[in-house]
Amino acid sequence: MGLRFIPVETEKQITQLAAIADKVWHEYFPCIITDEQIDYMVDKFQSKRAVTGQIAEGYEYFFLELNGIYIGYTGVHPESKKLFLSKLYVLKSYRGKGYSTRAFEFLTGLCDAYSLESIYLTVNRRNNHSIDVYKHWGFDIVREEVTDIGQGYVMDDYIMEYVLNR
Ligand SMILES: CC(C)(COP(=O)(O)OP(=O)(O)OC[C@H]1O[C@@H](n2cnc3c(N)ncnc32)[C@H](O)[C@@H]1OP(=O)(O)O)[C@@H](O)C(=O)NCCC(=O)NCCS
Repeated sequence: MGLRFIPVETEKQITQLAAIADKVWHEYFPCIITDEQIDYMVDKFQSKRAVTGQIAEGYEYFFLELNGIYIGYTGVHPESKKLFLSKLYVLKSYRGKGYSTRAFEFLTGLCDAYSLESIYLTVNRRNNHSIDVYKHWGFDIVREEVTDIGQGYVMDDYIMEYVLNR
């Protein structure tokens, strides 16, 4: 069985998603931001409460499901012309196998279905692997952005964009 994309809809699924977020953030981001900032950001952006609110606002989340196991997830927000790629996380033991590329293809399919022209995202400027992957898919860095997220923390990001049918 191949990779499937499962819409995140139920309370149970949101709980499962928040568990993956917590795992990936505490495993991957310590070399980029402090443990305190990780705890703060997971609670603010990817806790069960936060994700429930985002879905109510129009965000769409999908699990990457492989043989019955949720190996990661992606979260998007369709805008009038662009798809905001808010989240793309794959659990460590499933990385390096191209599953994220299948997710990217799924997202370009969503853009076609919604008649959207581009996909954009924010990525921490020190998240080198993800930046390399996004460039490999054809994303360009369009600008830098520093966002105050409260409690003295900032997000130091690049905005990257992929234009479809260029
Ligand atoms: C970002 C993430 C989803 C990418 O998934 P991944 O499994 O690591 O990606 P892969 O190694 O399978 O690489 C995906 C593609 O990029 C290519 N790639 C990987 N590293 C590359 C590099 N350094 N240079 C060029 N291309 C590269 C791969 O060859 C692959 O291409 P292909 O499918 O066309 O063969 C994953 O690393 C992750 O979850 N990271 C932690 C959380 C995170 O940072 N998320 C993004 C927040 S903005």
